[in-house]
Amino acid sequence: MIKQSTIDQVLSAVQLEEIIGEYVSLKKAGANYKGLSPFKQEKTPSFVVSPAKQCWYDFSMGKGGNIFTFLKEIEHFSFPEAIKFLAKKYGIEVEEDQEELSSEQIAARDEKEQLFKIHEIAARWFHQQMMETEEGKSIALGYFLQRGITLESVTKFQLGFGTEMWDGLYKHLTQLGFSDPILEKSGLVYFSGEKGTDSYSGKDRFRERIMFPILSYSGRVLGFGGRIMKNNVPVAKYINSPESPIYHKSDVLFGIAQARSSITKNDVCYLTEGYMDVIAMHQTGITNTVSSSGTALSVAQIQLIKRLTRNVSILFDGDEAGIKASFRSIDLLLEEAMNVRVLLFPDGHDPDSFVREKSSEEVLEFISSHQMDFIDFKTQILLQDKADDPLERGKCIQDILSSIAKVPSALQRELFVQKTARTFNLAEENIFKELAQKIALPSPSATKKHNKAPKMDIVEKRPRVEHLLVLENALVELLLKYSSKNIHIIEEDGNELNSTLGEEILDHLEEWEYQPIVEMNHLIFKEAKECNKENKSFESWLYGEMIDAEIAQKLASINITKYELSNWEQYQIHIHGEEEKSEENVFEVINRHKRELILKRINTIKERFKDSEIPEEEKKTIMKLIKLKITIDKDMHRVH
Ligand code: CTP
Ligand code: MN
Repeated sequence: MIKQSTIDQVLSAVQLEEIIGEYVSLKKAGANYKGLSPFKQEKTPSFVVSPAKQCWYDFSMGKGGNIFTFLKEIEHFSFPEAIKFLAKKYGIEVEEDQEELSSEQIAARDEKEQLFKIHEIAARWFHQQMMETEEGKSIALGYFLQRGITLESVTKFQLGFGTEMWDGLYKHLTQLGFSDPILEKSGLVYFSGEKGTDSYSGKDRFRERIMFPILSYSGRVLGFGGRIMKNNVPVAKYINSPESPIYHKSDVLFGIAQARSSITKNDVCYLTEGYMDVIAMHQTGITNTVSSSGTALSVAQIQLIKRLTRNVSILFDGDEAGIKASFRSIDLLLEEAMNVRVLLFPDGHDPDSFVREKSSEEVLEFISSHQMDFIDFKTQILLQDKADDPLERGKCIQDILSSIAKVPSALQRELFVQKTARTFNLAEENIFKELAQKIALPSPSATKKHNKAPKMDIVEKRPRVEHLLVLENALVELLLKYSSKNIHIIEEDGNELNSTLGEEILDHLEEWEYQPIVEMNHLIFKEAKECNKENKSFESWLYGEMIDAEIAQKLASINITKYELSNWEQYQIHIHGEEEKSEENVFEVINRHKRELILKRINTIKERFKDSEIPEEEKKTIMKLIKLKITIDKDMHRVH
């Protein structure tokens, strides 16, 4: 852990325009600086840096943020990496909390360092065996070349060869001083024979196999996949490194280190099944491709992708196993709020065989014209030639609805419901009802998750969600822009109250126990509340150490763009956009938000007792809500 004092020192030293100036040639433009986007080829500058707000915005990409998001985009630095990088630039000594580590933790860290080293050496050794020995050149390199893999790809993926020798790698590593226990832990070597006798010896796990190093996000070798070269031999086609302190197969994606900058640039990640698929796609020029390599896609793997993009296209074999795997992956991706597309390759093709001898344009064209969203995909697969059978249609809709139920955003769910209704030519209301049932049932995966499972009460009548969402966003923007602005209120009994705009918003949300629709808004409200509670300035958090990329982006866009009034006016919310007016605005937005919540609550009660008499207690609640609404309506009238 880097000490907070170091972080503070770095934050006060950093000049955003100075750091960005090393990547982009910036010219002064009014209060800001302008330059050509470092993320995209362009002729007219659309990249803006605000020295006052210490944030940047790239209009060509629609992306922005603070110093940390910039370094993440351009260098793929994590927060600690960015702090260390900046500290070095400004000559600040990085202090880390060492005392917290116990001796076991230090040993574990040293063990990991050794394992990283062993894997780095092994990858180089396998590569040399292939490139520099007769056996390697004729057998392994020959195999790759014959399969159409170029030397360039061999180098890019550090491909290699484990020879016939029993203990070539073991001896090499032993000579370099690594002990038996650590070599055994690496999984590259196993021991057989009786301990303490001559028969006891280390043997290489990967023999007579071509080797695919599996790299971490930042490019360190963590483990290997090894493929047998002969077909029709009674051994597993692929073997992988066993789990070790540095290799956890469900936490890695093959190709992520080589693909990550391309994934950000193209804002989509292609997900394939195998090693050869990734290499073939990269070789064709489609470098934003990774694979989960034989394991079922995991949440950890999705989170690696999520750092880079929200968009995933699954490119799987059209065989039964491929389809099954894609169904599981779709649900998991939806649950993680990713946008999913699916493409199955025609008869017997996998990406590797399909892209061979095609240009990247041809492949991309094929992908974009054949990929589907999950609704179309499931419809096509499940209804193949049973489109007229009502029973099958029912089953198919249920299947689609279980996927929709996984989507955390209420708004997104609503859009999927609309599409399902259109596809099957049914009333949206009916589909909503079915969906509500599915959401009410806790699914096994929903219970173990960090209670992100969609709540029943968010599924409600259609048109109003939009209003609520627009108002929620308006509250967030006001909070981000003017949270510390003082507000002076004179109550009806003449009492004077002083508060801030931020407090007014937070009080309102608390009073109504409001559950934000958008996850980012939820985070913003939560953090603001926390700052408020601890008497910290929300703004200094926002412009200081906040590292959430989405929030940073939002902040940059509202600070640097001229605020678009049109969006709100469409909903008859007249925002004057000026700081002086922010006080009036905040009460107007709060009132409108309250009004929507009232309507929603009334609706929920009515829906619940649709088929029976509304109980007295609930009737009273409705009356109270209606009265409140009338007061608000009057109140709002006075403002105009
Ligand atoms: N796999 C595995 N163990 C196996 C078979 C497959 O781990 N016994 C994983 C590998 O990561 C492999 C992926 O599943 O890349 C897909 O398997 P497959 O389609 O059989 O292999 P390909 O990658 O297509 O390899 P090739 O084209 O050389 O047959
Ligand atoms: Mn293949």
